[in-house]
Amino acid sequence: MRGTGSTHLGLVWVSRILCLHISGTFQHQRKHFGGGISQFYFTLEMQAIRSLFIPTWSSDTRLDGKTAIVTGGNNGIGKETVKDLASRGARVILACRDMAKGEQAACDIVREVKGAKVVTMQLDLADTKSICQFAENIYNTEKALHYLINNAGVAVCPYARTVDGYEMQFGVNHLGHFFLTFLLLDLLKHSAPSRVINLSSAAHFFGKIHFDDLKGEKDYHHFRAYAQSKLANVLFTRELAKRTEVLGVTAYSVDPGLVNTDILRYIRRPLLDIVKNFGFLIKTPAEGAYTTIYCTVTPENQLVTGGYYSNCSRAESSNAGQDDGTALKLWAVSCHLLGIRWR
Ligand SMILES: NC(=O)c1ccc[n+]([C@@H]2O[C@H](COP(=O)([O-])OP(=O)(O)OC[C@H]3O[C@@H](n4cnc5c(N)ncnc54)[C@H](OP(=O)(O)O)[C@@H]3O)[C@@H](O)[C@H]2O)c1
Repeated sequence: MRGTGSTHLGLVWVSRILCLHISGTFQHQRKHFGGGISQFYFTLEMQAIRSLFIPTWSSDTRLDGKTAIVTGGNNGIGKETVKDLASRGARVILACRDMAKGEQAACDIVREVKGAKVVTMQLDLADTKSICQFAENIYNTEKALHYLINNAGVAVCPYARTVDGYEMQFGVNHLGHFFLTFLLLDLLKHSAPSRVINLSSAAHFFGKIHFDDLKGEKDYHHFRAYAQSKLANVLFTRELAKRTEVLGVTAYSVDPGLVNTDILRYIRRPLLDIVKNFGFLIKTPAEGAYTTIYCTVTPENQLVTGGYYSNCSRAESSNAGQDDGTALKLWAVSCHLLGIRWR
């Protein structure tokens, strides 16, 4: 789903052509071979097409003795990330806004992963007080933090505001994680080498930072606001990397791909049509977690700090995502909005 408006349109057409081809082949096979065999060929074709779009990746790197925080670890990509890191021996903290959901996810993971060391802690990224309380709890309980995975997110939702009055998508996806990283940086520095991984999206290609309307009061559009917040993730990563590399803290932004999770609940046409027709091309949550895990376990000298990653490899972000002037301005504005000094 990466690309400009025209590549997006292109994708819609490719999808349609593929759909016609697949249904045509399916009819042909049904006519000649009958239901059972045609179903078999159909499944093989689907698998072949799927493997073109969704590369597989694996690594047996262990993370014994390491500690990770995964925001939004109770659901979707975050839950699969927790499960994977726990299976490698890491201690993982699920930072969840809803403790009941968090405890349930932790129980599921402990059942599935033998010896999993997972803990649930309350964190509402839409409330700066909750973020402060969470950070305080971390400093009280953890001696080290090696991986901060800023995964939680809201997408293309109707207009809403955070407790502190920011537009919800910018507030949770960017400002909440920016503030959380600021508060946890001392522990990350103390635990160096350590990493910050920010979940972005190919939607950032459509993004622009509307500095004149960050609260979305003038002209709110649900997708534009999501794209803005995901561009902010890319820019934050870039600027953070520059400031923290000498401290032994590296940073990466990740596009997980199009993944079948609850986040798709507000998606409408034309994307909804693609989702319906091409469900088999959409990643499972476990596949969606691959690039996050790749950026967690790959040796540092094989990664580029501040870089944007997609499908388990370095990728190019949008031009706006490489604009250092905007990254610096966003940094200053975010500090101002949060009332913090972060030099
Ligand atoms: N799925 C995709 O196709 C896709 C594509 C590109 C990028 N992404 C990115 O991937 C990340 C994970 O998304 P997902 O697909 O796994 O979505 P998901 O299944 O909806 O999970 C989102 C997680 O974020 C949590 N969250 C939402 N608001 C929060 C808040 N105020 N404070 C703390 N946690 C909050 C949710 O908690 P609750 O369970 O309590 O709601 C949930 O655990 C997001 O950053 C998203 O932008 C996803």
